[in-house]
Amino acid sequence: MKKVLVTGGCGFIGSHTIVDLIENGFEVISADDNSRSSAYPLLGIEQITGKKVKNYQVDLKNFDETLAVFQENPDIVGVIHFAAYKAVGESVEKPLLYYENNLFGLVNLLKCVQEFSVPHFVFSSSCTVYGNPDALPVVETSPIKKAESPYGATKQMGEEIIRNFSGSAQTSSILLRYFNPVGAHPTAIIGEQPLGKPQNLVPAITQTAIGKIPRLVVHGNDYPTRDGSCIRDYIHVCDIASAHTLALLYLIDQRNASACDVFNLGTGNGVSVLEAIHAFEKVSGVQLNYEIGPRRSGDVVAVYANNEFAVKGLNWQIRYDLDDMMRTAWNWELKIRKAEEAVKSN
Ligand code: UD1
Repeated sequence: MKKVLVTGGCGFIGSHTIVDLIENGFEVISADDNSRSSAYPLLGIEQITGKKVKNYQVDLKNFDETLAVFQENPDIVGVIHFAAYKAVGESVEKPLLYYENNLFGLVNLLKCVQEFSVPHFVFSSSCTVYGNPDALPVVETSPIKKAESPYGATKQMGEEIIRNFSGSAQTSSILLRYFNPVGAHPTAIIGEQPLGKPQNLVPAITQTAIGKIPRLVVHGNDYPTRDGSCIRDYIHVCDIASAHTLALLYLIDQRNASACDVFNLGTGNGVSVLEAIHAFEKVSGVQLNYEIGPRRSGDVVAVYANNEFAVKGLNWQIRYDLDDMMRTAWNWELKIRKAEEAVKSN
């Protein structure tokens, strides 16, 4: 069995990806310092797959701690690197925290990848690298715009570091540019657990519907779009997860065209904020309490993917539509509620 190291394995996308990797015959270990996650998803992974995944609670900013993971596992054939901070607003307030965490961690990890001659590396990038695009849908060769936030800058710099590294080492890499990952595993055993008040739309919708948030604020309805609200490309987290397994297989089979290939991971469908809300209301049967508020600074008007390259190149099949995304996100929110009630009644 091929062994893969997943950094950030206790996070939202990391945990779903581990499930997909295990279901496709990989052996997985995780490295997650749990600074922004708990170890709880590992139990969920075990419940879904029947396999226990070992997590190394290491801080990737600490080179020696990171190296120790590779020393204990010299048979790692691929690294999938999720571990990073991702709150846009926080990155504006604390830029050094973001540069230090997201970039020092990456460099340390790549030094270990080099030292142990790990042949395959997959990086979590983001459509944020395209900024406010001039033309839609965006293709992988669309221009990279000046980053809107330090968070976005760390993704751009991370891409560049990996591109340079891949050219100079025996490692081939893939940069996966995610659009808007949402939803939860169809079993509702794992899902997204935002810290504090959710900034992203779908957790904000489900938390409003369950009553944790009194009202959802739609950030602007005066954009030049079909209903005035911003357009994004929401994609189910399990579809994102399967693309990682396929990316690894693509590298293992040496189908890559260069030392560092890039893929957009989106459905290709642009969905407005109001359309997302209505899809949620339809599948949940819950009338959402929402109001129109002012624009959120830094928001792009519209962005969605041309995903042909990923669909053809990786043999990627998108299995979940917008209704599935909303249904699974809602089932997950209901599951959290049940768990909280069980704790209270004990
Ligand atoms: C944001 C980040 C992006 C990051 C991604 C993953 C910005 C500008 N971009 O993407 O770089 O990769 O998260 O974490 O922050 N909305 C509301 N009300 C809410 C929440 C969101 O109307 O309570 C709207 C937003 O204004 C936006 C859309 O919903 O139009 C999607 O927002 P969000 O889920 O935060 O994702 P992005 O902004 O696309």
